[in-house]
Amino acid sequence: MTGGAEDLSALTTLRLPATARARRDVADLPALRQALAFARTAGLPVIVLGEGSNVVFAGDVDALVLRYTATGRTVLAEDGDSVTLRVAAGEHWHTLVAWCLERGYHGLENLALIPGTVGAAPIQNIGAYGVELAPFVQAVHAVRIADGEALTLSRADCAFGYRDSIFKGALRDAVVITAVDFRLQRTPAPVTDYPSLRDALAGRAAAPGPRDVFDAVVALRRARLPDPATTPNAGSFFKNPVVDTATADRLADAYPGMPQFAAAGGRKLAAGWLIEQCGFRGAEGEGVAVHPGHALVLISRGGDGRALLALAQRIQDAVADRFGCRLEIEPRVYGVAA
Ligand code: EPU
Repeated sequence: MTGGAEDLSALTTLRLPATARARRDVADLPALRQALAFARTAGLPVIVLGEGSNVVFAGDVDALVLRYTATGRTVLAEDGDSVTLRVAAGEHWHTLVAWCLERGYHGLENLALIPGTVGAAPIQNIGAYGVELAPFVQAVHAVRIADGEALTLSRADCAFGYRDSIFKGALRDAVVITAVDFRLQRTPAPVTDYPSLRDALAGRAAAPGPRDVFDAVVALRRARLPDPATTPNAGSFFKNPVVDTATADRLADAYPGMPQFAAAGGRKLAAGWLIEQCGFRGAEGEGVAVHPGHALVLISRGGDGRALLALAQRIQDAVADRFGCRLEIEPRVYGVAA
């Protein structure tokens, strides 16, 4: 596959070297439609980026790389205890979480400090510390790449699952998300049962409120996960695998201490634990490595996408051999030669 003159290395948090045939940043709907018309005329597929924190460029792409950068937050309705917000896709996710906390719009505290934009959040149904985005999404507004038509998807239309949505499936690379409507609550309902969060909040005199949860999540992430500004990474590189209950029981017998979490369809295993058990925490590839502090995060030290995917493959093979389960890559991967 051939790329082009546009350097993509600064557009993703992994900073992998790659080029695209063309790129555009557009800040409003007319400019977006113009860019989509250009791509149609040039016969180029479109790859949409936010802050590039969940994307791997494994090689060059013969495509238009597009960022929709519109910002803005509007309160659509305040109805008793609930508040409905419309937030433009280009807003920075953590800034929105902090703003909601200030205003007393509750629900998103556990999702503090997740890198990326508001428009990217529904794609992988971001989740952390016992909370997922999905229940707070009222609607997703988008523009169809094929013809520039505006679409509105309800929460049900989005087909949210664990680190999954229609935007990674049937609508992958088919729409540009332009805004998200959120429904939040004025009455705080802190979710504190995720083990590391519960431990961080333990020993307090009073029951934790939303700000305590926000602060604890920020501290946990800072302590455990590498900052993409200094250590190029895309967060968790694999999904946590879900296995049926019989398999989970068998694994728990064979490996006492194996972390397992309740999940639809069985139990979720901790991919980071599985990878660490296979001896990969801190392991190195060619200019890429497994983060020494968290085995689920792959980092770049100047290597390229091929080296990163080669390391990922070694990890997948080792975990499959030892535990009999397949790790699925979580970020979106582009630029793999056919
Ligand atoms: N663990 C290890 N070794 C490691 C890493 C983890 O033994 O190197 C163990 C931990 O001790 C713990 C278990 O694995 O018992 C789970 O670890 P952790 O709480 O760090 O969470 P995770 O399952 O590895 C998931 C999300 C993260 C999210 C955290 C906190 C996925 C793919 N990842 O990680 O999301 O921040 O939970 O809720 O679900 C992301 O998606 O990019 C991301 C960072």
